[in-house]
This record gives sequence, C-alpha cells and structure tokens, in this order.
Amino acid sequence: MLDIAFAKPALPKSGALALLIHEGEKPSGLWAQLDEATGGAIARAFDVAEFKGAKGKSCLILAPGANLTRVLAVGLGKPAELTQKILEEAGGAVASNLSKETNVAVANSALTAQQAAEVALGAVLRGYRFDRYRTKEKPEDKSKLAKVTVLTSEHTKAKAAWEPLDATAKGVFLTRDLVSEPPNVLDPPEMAERCRKLSELGLKVEILGPKEMGKLGFGALLGVSQGSVKEPRMVIMHWNGVSGNGRKSKEKPVVFVGKGVTFDTGGISIKPAGGMEDMKWDMAGAGTVIGLMAALAGRKAKVDAIGLVGLVENMPSGNAQRPGDVVTSYSGQTIEVINTDAEGRLVLADVLWYAQQKFDPKFMVDLATLTGAIIIGLGHEYGGLFSNDDALSQKLTAAGQVTGERLWRMPLDEAYDKQIRSDIADMKNVGGRPGGSITAAQFVQRFVNGKPWAHLDIAGMAWSTKDAAVTPKGATAFGVRLLDRLVADNYES
Ligand code: BES
Ligand code: MN
Ligand code: ZN
Repeated sequence: MLDIAFAKPALPKSGALALLIHEGEKPSGLWAQLDEATGGAIARAFDVAEFKGAKGKSCLILAPGANLTRVLAVGLGKPAELTQKILEEAGGAVASNLSKETNVAVANSALTAQQAAEVALGAVLRGYRFDRYRTKEKPEDKSKLAKVTVLTSEHTKAKAAWEPLDATAKGVFLTRDLVSEPPNVLDPPEMAERCRKLSELGLKVEILGPKEMGKLGFGALLGVSQGSVKEPRMVIMHWNGVSGNGRKSKEKPVVFVGKGVTFDTGGISIKPAGGMEDMKWDMAGAGTVIGLMAALAGRKAKVDAIGLVGLVENMPSGNAQRPGDVVTSYSGQTIEVINTDAEGRLVLADVLWYAQQKFDPKFMVDLATLTGAIIIGLGHEYGGLFSNDDALSQKLTAAGQVTGERLWRMPLDEAYDKQIRSDIADMKNVGGRPGGSITAAQFVQRFVNGKPWAHLDIAGMAWSTKDAAVTPKGATAFGVRLLDRLVADNYES
C-alpha cells in the first residue's frame, strides 16, 4: 500500500508535484510559485494542452524545471460542484499518471483536512496491485510510486481524517486480494483461515465445518458442496463496536451475508469452457463481507455488526448433486434442484436463515455474484438491488451515490415468485429465462422471515476488465465502501 503523508504547503525540492486545479481558477500559492520558478513553463504547457481545469482532464508536464521531474495538473471542475468522488478520482489520476515517480506531492489552493484525506484515498485505491504470483516482472513495468504527500494547511487534522479512510482502504484491499486469488489456492478452508486472521483486528471469528452444518441441517448448502473434495465452511465474524466488555447495546446488530463459491464449474449442469476461469471470483460476495468487517473493525465503527459467509466449491463428480435432487434447507423448506449451476441461492438460503434465527438482525444485506442475467440487465455500471424495505433501499441507494458504487432497485413481486413453484417440492431453484435475476431474488426472499432485507446481485460489478478512476482492472471490491458508508451514515451511535 502507498505510504500517505500530509504536510503544510511548500514547493518540493525534487520529485513530482500534482496540482489539483478548479475550472477557471487563477494561479496562486504553490501553482504561482512553481510557474515563476520554471520561468512560465507551467502556464505555457497549460496553454498548449488547452488545460483549463475541467473535471476529468489532466495535463502532464515532463521536466518542467525547478528541479522537478514531473508536474501533473488534474482538473476538479467547478468549485461549487466539487464532490468526494471528484477528489478521489483526482487522487486516482495522480496514482495512475505518476506511477514512475517515487515521491509525489499533491497541492490545491484550499483543501480541507477531510478533502485532503479523500484525495489520498483515491490515490491509494488506484495504486492497488496484485502481483503475488509474478516472478519475472521487469523493473520498468513496475510501479515505483511509494509515497504521496498531500499538502494542506490543515495537515494535522488531515492525518486524523485519514485514519478511518485508511482502515476502509485496507478492507478494500483485503477483498481485492481474496477475489484475485486463484481457486486452487483460495478454497473454502483457506478462505476461512484468512477470516480467522481478522481476530487480530478485534473481530470474534467462528468457523463451522461440514459436521456442524450437517447437524444443523444445512441441506441446501451441503448439497452444493457435496461434489467437491474441498470441505465447506461457514464463517461468522462479529464486530462488537458497541456491546462487549460488559456493555450492552440497545440496538440489534446489522448483518451482512456473502455468497462464497470459491469456484463455480456449474456442477453437473456444467458451464462451457470459455471464460470459466472467471468463476474464481464467484466468492466475491463473501470476499466483500470479509473486507467490510475488516474495515468496520479497523476504524472501530460504533456499531454491532455480524458478517456471515457460506464457503463452498461447486464441482461435478461421482458424488455431485444431480438435477432433480430434492434437498431440505435449514429453514425446513424443500428445494428441487433443477439446475446445479443455480447454486449461489442454495448457499444463501441456509446462511440467511441461520443469521436470522441466531442474531435477530436489525436488517440483513446479502451480496452475491448470483446471476448472469443481472449483467444483461444493468451491465457493469450498477449493482442490482432487491429489497422488502423501502427505507433500507433508499439508504443503500444514497450510499451508492456518494461512494460511486451505485445500485439500481429491481422489482420483487408475487407474480415472479410463481415461476419457482415446483411440482414435487416447496420450490425449485430456477425460474426460467424471463427475469432471471428477479426469480433468483424471489428464491432468496423465501428464506427471509419478515426482517428488513436487501439482496445485492453484484455479478456485473465484482470484476472489471478495464482500469477505472480509483479501481485498477481486476477485482473491484464493489460493496465494501458502499456498506461501510451505509453503516457510517445511518447506524453508528
Ligand atoms: N455464478 C453464476 C453467476 C455469474 C455468471 C456470475 C456470470 C458472474 C458472471 C451463478 O452461479 C450462475 O451460474 N447462475 C446461472 C443461473 C441459471 C442456471 C439460472 C446463470 O446466471 O446462468
Ligand atoms: Mn452457478
Ligand atoms: Zn455461482
């Protein structure tokens, strides 16, 4: 992770400087000083590049003089329209354009402490790399960027403002690492072990194996797992930010549930070979819950939160579940498994029911790379939101807007629920092609016992094939910042 520092504004004596400039802003402060020290090179470069500070525009100047190697100007747009997202994206532009520099200072005429921290967050998030399995990377291909110093007169306050954002970034990185890991390394037992390590942050971690889940009657989750030689796990992570140490909370805990299919071959209803490697990230819902819990604990959020993940591998084998099998879920409801590739909902069914029985949640949010159909519906811009609660939906949508992890609400309706009626059992696990994401959500809702609940179908959002402003291509950790923000804005005492 990038080293972040805050300091009072002063022209650096070497290295690189990034100037964050508003549309229509006149040179002042460091910008004016630098222009003078370089004999007007900055103004000339802006002129040539027609750089005027528009949002999303940038201008890179090499060896401008004044002993600096690079100067990068980043446009912030109109001052009245400045948002956290714009500041983060400016930080992201610094990390992506100045990756050949070791030390970068970032300046703006009027950054508050909080804004300086938001710029730092963008730089850190954009600077993420997963290179654990590269042994032959050429030095010239590696990022050299080691330290970003954001210049602000409120530098002491900025350091304090950075602390919770630092914890959130660490949670995002944990999720990205988990989602990036190959499926031979990150199987259910290994993923559970990585959860166990979170006890270092003060989380209480419980791990259940196949025997315990068998005793409880997790027929739906275990049916998915039975074709794999890898044992399943359910992990329960508790963050007691309010209760504990003799204190008790008046509030019920907030509960997050994640689908953790460490690899989804489809099972006997096997997927085609092309692109199947993508199904290593079918554990992204669980990965997100784990990173979220790390973020909440890392910033000592004043909330009682519980994260539960159902971890299985979906494989075809002589012992695999068959299309036509009927399984009995932990809730007692029976399920006809028509398609073994609709496995995520089977995992969620048992974990959600457990969460509700055991913890009496204030609300539950589940995250899952549940359906290919949500990618057809919403593409890679919005996650699908399904909920039985308008207030919770509104809070989630609002948190999505500020963090840029946006959600679009989709319908739930008895009319769709009819599609999953079975001739032999209480329900079947697929409802045909029409409204595929909705019937999947209807299935999940059958395991919600009247509690406020939201289901986030993140199949289109968990992985990106293109670099974005604060997210390099690969695992995005979509949902960590969204839910961290949901908690921070609404549920902390
Ligand atoms: N993990 C997949 C959904 C998925 C597909 C995620 C593509 C990311 C990219 C899920 O388990 C699945 O296979 N769903 C099926 C459901 C169908 C059998 C009803 C699907 O979407 O095709
Ligand atoms: Mn599947
Ligand atoms: Zn799946």
